This record gives sequence, structure tokens and C-alpha cells, in this order.
Amino acid sequence: MSRTVYVNGDFLPEADAKISVFDRGFLFADAVYEVSAVIGGKLVDNAAHLARLDRSLKELGMASPGTGEEITALQRELIAQNDLDEGLVYLQVTRGAADRDFGYPKDAAPSLVMFTQARTVTDNPTAETGISVVTVPEIRWQRRDIKTVGLLAACMAKETAKAAGAGDAWFVEDGYVTEGSSNNAFIVKTDGTLVTRQLSTEILHGITRKAVIALCEREGITLEERPFTPEEAYEAAEAFSTSASAFVMPVVKIDDRILSNGAPGPVAAKLRTLYVEMARELAE
Ligand code: PDD
Repeated sequence: MSRTVYVNGDFLPEADAKISVFDRGFLFADAVYEVSAVIGGKLVDNAAHLARLDRSLKELGMASPGTGEEITALQRELIAQNDLDEGLVYLQVTRGAADRDFGYPKDAAPSLVMFTQARTVTDNPTAETGISVVTVPEIRWQRRDIKTVGLLAACMAKETAKAAGAGDAWFVEDGYVTEGSSNNAFIVKTDGTLVTRQLSTEILHGITRKAVIALCEREGITLEERPFTPEEAYEAAEAFSTSASAFVMPVVKIDDRILSNGAPGPVAAKLRTLYVEMARELAE
């Protein structure tokens, strides 16, 4: 069945949804994006995603294609037109089309593209078993706080993971884990304390990460925001990653070290349950 896709003012069958070959998103990865989860036809934590979109745009001096209310209305219309109950809404803003030149064009109008992906995000069977991850060298650029579509390093990391029979990859820079290829990385120490890298330009400021940290505060779970090494992770009681597409995903193996007896640990499982509950409740 063909999806309806949004492109610059039009809702179109996906085969008719097209962008110029001169679009700077295509030529330079001069584009930013957001992925919001949908539960029961409603958007999860979407205001936070649109606030981060705004920040990404500002960091790159890119014009916004609309206000938060306008973009939200388009996302909702797209969900309705695709009859989406559960899944994701992907949105991408590019600087627009202009003759190829590195300098930012003065007169290009930003492009806005959105599509939906139907998938089970709440009762995801992978969360029942957890995933294994491999560590890979951090080869991305130095502004990982900007959510650009320049994702080739992440694609390569995921291919490396796949070749090693793992579910995902965690990047390591100067001996410390930065984050997952498309998620933020957490470990749970044997005393129950959570550790996740502090916010900086070195990682994406995850919306799910923030929500999980708020849940920890509510539940009285201690959290340390600091870098951790793969070696510390090998000795951890549990590990997990967070993202809008996988929520809280238990990690049961890191490189060749099995964690929590190879099954999702109690802290990760609890945080996943609490997150899904909260997401369901607050989705709008
Ligand atoms: N990825 N770090 C990176 C590098 C990411 O790409 C993502 C999200 C996150 C988690 O951020 P959030 O909790 O706001 O989704 C962290 C999305 C889901 C993607 O690229 O599909």
C-alpha cells in the first residue's frame, strides 16, 4: 500500500513525492531531521523534538519551514491521511535547492519533507530479548549535537555491527563511549547507579534520554552524567540505549562480554515499562 508523503505544501502518493537534484540536502547533506514516535495515532514528546529541530536550524543558520504549531498540524494531518496508529513520523528540513556551491545560497527556500513508518514501537519483541552491541571508533564530525542527515558514519557502524552478528554499535572516542549509532548509551553499575555521557557537542541531546533522566529522578534512581569506558561497561550490571524509535532498548552484550546473564536487566526493563506508560499517557 502506498503511503501519503508530505513535500513542500503537498500531500502526495509516495511515488509522486519528489525533490530537486539541486536540493542541498541531496548534494551536501545540508539538512536536519527529527523522528517522533506515534502511539495510538498521537505524537510522543513532539514539542521537545520540534524545539531541538529549531535549535539544529539555528546552529546552521537555516530558515525554518514553519512554526511549531504549523509543523505539528502537518504531522497530525499526515498521521491521519496514513491512518497511522503506531510507528514513526520522520521529518526533514533542507536548506533548499540552489546551483551547487559550498556557500549558503541567499535566496533558497527551505524544503520540508515528512513521511510515516508503521511499526510496533510499544510491544517491540526485540526489547524482550535485548540486543548486543559492538564498540566502533568514533569517526563522525564534531557537532553531533546538531541532528543532520549526514549519517553515513552511523550507517557504516550499523553495517559493522551486522557483520559481527550484533544489533547495534556504540561509538568510542579517546577511550570513552560517546553514544550509540542512533541512540544514547547508558550503563547501570552494580550498585544500581546509572551512568550516561553528559551533554556536549559530542553527542545528540536525546529527547528520550531527557525523559528517562526525569523518570530516574521521579523513581529515586541515582544518575551520573559522565563519560564511561567500554571496560567499565563490560563490568556493568546492565546497559541500555534510548531513542525515539526504540524507546529504552536493553543491551545484553557489549563486544564479547555478556551482561545481566544475557537477558534484559531489571532496571532497563522497569525504565522501558515506565517510559512506555508515560509516552502513552502524554502523547498528543
Ligand atoms: N536517532 N543519538 C543519535 C546519534 C541519534 O541518531 C538519536 C536518534 C539519538 C536519540 O535521540 P532521541 O531520543 O531524541 O530519538 C541519540 C533517530 C531515532 C534516528 O536517527 O532514527
